[in-house]
Amino acid sequence: MVQVVLPNDANPLGFILGGTVMHLIDIAGAIACFRHSRSRVVTAAVDGLQFLHPIKVGDLILLKAEVTATFRTSMEVEVRVMSEETLTGERKLTSHAYLTFVAIDADGRRVEVPDLVLETDAQRTRAIEAESRRQQRLAAKARMAQIEGELAAGR
Ligand SMILES: CC(C)(COP(=O)(O)OP(=O)(O)OC[C@H]1O[C@@H](n2cnc3c(N)ncnc32)[C@H](O)[C@@H]1OP(=O)(O)O)[C@@H](O)C(=O)NCCC(=O)NCCS
Repeated sequence: MVQVVLPNDANPLGFILGGTVMHLIDIAGAIACFRHSRSRVVTAAVDGLQFLHPIKVGDLILLKAEVTATFRTSMEVEVRVMSEETLTGERKLTSHAYLTFVAIDADGRRVEVPDLVLETDAQRTRAIEAESRRQQRLAAKARMAQIEGELAAGR
């Protein structure tokens, strides 16, 4: 995805808002997962997100999303965000994130997603590494469920 950063997307310093970048990351990741699964998808998790460089009004924001691993009904997608100066073409990596999307049908039931065809060693390695990232996410989710239970019990 490529967009030009417009004044409406920016803070008073003339840099794109972090929330706008997060929105675009979510959309780019969803499109990749939608195209892989040909299902409706919802965002289940976004891993730690860093903003390395500001992107200023008038620059381009480029987002590249790639499904990196599939599980049963969920998919991990990697999104890279780059800025591009329109006049010089200089590009910088500004953000990077892994997201997890879950495929659902029209009634909200989970649906299985097709396996990913892994063609290169780099893709195979990344898919193997995705398993430990998934375990970390599920552990974080379990901690949240515990907090939710404690709040419900008034503790
Ligand atoms: C995401 C959601 C559908 C998962 O529901 P759930 O009842 O926990 O579903 P399940 O336990 O059956 O899990 C379904 C799959 O998602 C995975 N999953 C669920 N929560 C996850 C998380 N936080 N991180 C990573 N994977 C997760 C499960 O491991 C499972 O994967 P698999 O089928 O590939 O093995 C549900 O939590 C939800 O609707 N969340 C809100 C989504 C939303 O509104 N997003 C923002 C707007 S789109």
